[in-house]
Amino acid sequence: MKHTTRSPKLPGARDLALDILAAARRRERSVEDLLAAALRRHRGLPRLERALLLELVQGVKRWEIRLDYFLARVSDLPLRKLHPLVHQILRLGAYQILMLDKVPARAAVHEAGRQARGRGLPAAHAGFINAVLRRLTAGELPPIPPLKADPVQSLSLEHSHPAWLVRRWLERYGLEQTRALLAANNRIPPLTIRANLLKTDAATLQARLAREGVEAAPCRFSPEGLNLLALTSPPLELPSYRDGLWLFQDEGAQLASRLLPLTPGARLLEIGAGRGGKTSHLAAALGDRGLILALDRHFRRLKELKINLARLGVRAAQPLVADATAALPCKSGAADAVLVDAPCSSLGIIRRHPEIKGRVTEADLAAFPPRQLAMLAAAAPCLRPGGRLLYITCTSEPAENEAVIRAFLAAHPEFHLATDLSRLPAPARSLIEPPGFFRTSPEEHDLDAFFAAVLAKE
Ligand SMILES: C[S@@+](CC[C@H](N)C(=O)[O-])C[C@H]1O[C@@H](n2cnc3c(N)ncnc32)[C@H](O)[C@@H]1O
Repeated sequence: MKHTTRSPKLPGARDLALDILAAARRRERSVEDLLAAALRRHRGLPRLERALLLELVQGVKRWEIRLDYFLARVSDLPLRKLHPLVHQILRLGAYQILMLDKVPARAAVHEAGRQARGRGLPAAHAGFINAVLRRLTAGELPPIPPLKADPVQSLSLEHSHPAWLVRRWLERYGLEQTRALLAANNRIPPLTIRANLLKTDAATLQARLAREGVEAAPCRFSPEGLNLLALTSPPLELPSYRDGLWLFQDEGAQLASRLLPLTPGARLLEIGAGRGGKTSHLAAALGDRGLILALDRHFRRLKELKINLARLGVRAAQPLVADATAALPCKSGAADAVLVDAPCSSLGIIRRHPEIKGRVTEADLAAFPPRQLAMLAAAAPCLRPGGRLLYITCTSEPAENEAVIRAFLAAHPEFHLATDLSRLPAPARSLIEPPGFFRTSPEEHDLDAFFAAVLAKE
């Protein structure tokens, strides 16, 4: 990554990256939100600096476990005893030295020292940072334990995933698939967008993007999806984005939403509407006629949903703040269809949000299934007989997926599985396996890991 000249008023990518990593460590907001806010605040940031900022933040989060392993071995102090800023500066430096070919190691060490001094850290801290990073540049890296000696530790360090997750996946998938999954999670995912069918279609959008200097190609499965291959300007500043012609959405999510049969004019209850990624897709399927009660517990997400839906030209959705694990404000049998886009462990979207590796712990996992079941149980009475309920998660954990569906069906005999293959374009039908579970995965399909199932009420 080359250095670029920039206006003296604008902070550089490394300083912004340090701010974001430090704030994320304090758990102020998600890395994604912090990045988006920084890019909004510094719109004038030159293109290469923006690219470097994204690379540094996502790269450090992606490789954090591996970086810490090497840092711990060349540091005289345990990493947990370091000043938090010193630790983040070291991670940034180590990432550039070990994982980026285009930054000369000397420049990375120099920048780390400058950052330490610029943040007012004592000279001893700057000296320590300098010494640690110099040892890394000297190339005396300790070896990663061989696979045979300790498969969990070896894969955890090689692919920078927490050991508990590697152990879990090894037990479930075996060595080859686990290795493929870990590697796929570390690859930069495609920039996938969904055309807003209320305003355009994929082919028309592709031509419009070309006029805006963006090379895009149709997705493999989703007819509304395009992958952005080459851009000359920040995507969210493109006129086609501002005009509401598209939004970012993984192809797995696009396919999962299609499973819900909808007819224009229908009344829909959406639980876990978030920022409206699926709401706008459902609205397009309704031809924006009918009603979507878009429910979420978080007011701030629904505020963003409103902004997004206004841009996309969706009028049929009505946001509502509510806790969907409790009784819902809907009349019995009032909804023609229900989507439960469940809060989950999010282990299927690590490739897009590498911070999940450090955020979710094994102990967190047990809390999700009861919450997911409570949401399904709260939504069930709202659905009219003959209606369909679509359940979606972005995790590969069976306990949050098929086990939740089975437990729900056991307690609600008036429901049965009714996932309909024909809702998907032919090449995507193999993503549904008997008895009706839709699954995608990074290692097999180059998609985020989504799970979905459709239930019919008798
Ligand atoms: C998978 S995310 C939603 C993603 C969104 N539908 C999209 O497509 O962009 C799950 C959502 O559930 C919401 N949520 C979590 N617990 C909830 C609860 N008890 N009641 C209602 N919503 C909840 C979260 O705020 C989050 O927005």
